[in-house]
Amino acid sequence: MKDPFFLGSKALRNRVLYAPLAGCSDYPFRQMSSRYHPGIVYCEMVKIDALVRNDPHTFRLLDYHSSMHPIGAQLCGSKPKLAAQAARMIEDLGFDVLDFNCGCPVDKVTKDGSGSGMLKTPDLIGEMLSQMIAAVKIPVTVKIRAGWDEGSINGPLITQIAEKVGAKAITVHGRTRAQGYKGPANWDYITACKKAAKDILVIGNGDVFSQEAAQKMFQETGCDAVLVSRGTLGQPWIAEDIMRGLNGLEPIARGVSEIRDILLEHFDLIIRYQPERQAMLDFRRVGCWYLKRCVGVKDLRIAINRAASTREAMRFVEDFSWRDVSLSKELVFAETE
Ligand SMILES: Cc1cc2nc3c(=O)[nH]c(=O)nc-3n(C[C@H](O)[C@H](O)[C@H](O)COP(=O)(O)O)c2cc1C
Repeated sequence: MKDPFFLGSKALRNRVLYAPLAGCSDYPFRQMSSRYHPGIVYCEMVKIDALVRNDPHTFRLLDYHSSMHPIGAQLCGSKPKLAAQAARMIEDLGFDVLDFNCGCPVDKVTKDGSGSGMLKTPDLIGEMLSQMIAAVKIPVTVKIRAGWDEGSINGPLITQIAEKVGAKAITVHGRTRAQGYKGPANWDYITACKKAAKDILVIGNGDVFSQEAAQKMFQETGCDAVLVSRGTLGQPWIAEDIMRGLNGLEPIARGVSEIRDILLEHFDLIIRYQPERQAMLDFRRVGCWYLKRCVGVKDLRIAINRAASTREAMRFVEDFSWRDVSLSKELVFAETE
C-alpha cells in the first residue's frame, strides 16, 4: 500500500480515511483522531441551504484547526442552483476535499430528495457534482449507499455518472437506504462499483471495526481506500492499527490504562472547546464509546452520567479502580445514523 494516497492532485497521508459522522465527528473528536494520522478526517455533514444562508451553527460544525489537515467537508442538499456557491464557500474556508452526501437515510433529510433521496435521481447527482466541480479547484467526491433498496441497486451507474462529471472518488457504503443498519454491510456492492469504475477511485465503507476487517475489505473488494465510520468511535487510533497491519508491522497492544489516558485526553479537549453544559452531554456520549470494550465499568458509566460537573466526571475517571477492569474482544456499537 503506497502512501500517500492522491485524490486528484491532493495528497492524503494514506488510504485509511475517517468518515463524516453527524453528532460525532466534532472538533474535539477530530483533534483526537488527527493524532493517529488517518488519510483525512471529515467534519460532520452540513446542509447546503444552511451554509449559503450563513447559519452560524453550520459554521461551527465546520470549525477546524490547522493540525487537522488534510480535512474534508461534506455537503448535503439537492438544489443545483446553490451547489456552486456552497462549494466555493467550503473551498474558501480552506478545506482540502469536498464530499457530496448521497447516503444519509434520515427522513427529514430525504424528504426533499437530499441524502440517500438522491439515489432515486442519479442524473441530479451528476448535476450537483458538475456544479461543484466547475466552481472549485479542490477535489470533489461523492458518498452513496448501494441503492435505495434491494430492488434498485444503482451504485455502479452512479459511479459512472460521477466519473463522467469529474468526481475524483466515490465512497460506497455497502448497505441500501431501506436496510438502515440492519444486517452486515454487503461488500459485493463495493466490488460492483469498483468494476464499473475506470478512473474514479472507489472507497469502501461499512463494518470496518478492526485492522483485520480493513485488510479484508481491501482484498475482497479491490477498493482504493477504506472509510472507517463507527469503528473510529472510542478507538481514534484505528488508522494507526490498520496502517501498521498493511505495512506488516505488529499491532500495538492497547491496554486498559492507555484507554483511560486517551479517554481523559479526549475529555480534556471537550472541556477546552465546549461550554460546560454541552461538555457534560458530550462526556456521556464519548465516555460510552471508550468504555464499550471495558468489562467492570458499570459504576463508572453511572458516575459519569450523574456527575454534577465536568470536573467531577474527570475525577471519577481518575479515581476509578481501573486495575479491576478487563477488556472484551467484542466492540458493540449501538450508534446509528
Ligand atoms: C452517528 C452517525 C452519524 C453519521 N453521519 C454521517 C454523515 O454526516 N455523513 C455521511 O456521509 N455519513 C454519515 N454516517 C454514515 C457513516 O459515515 C457510514 O457510512 C456508516 O456508518 C457505515 O459505516 P460503518 O459500518 O463503518 O459505521 C453516520 C453514521 C453514524 C452512525
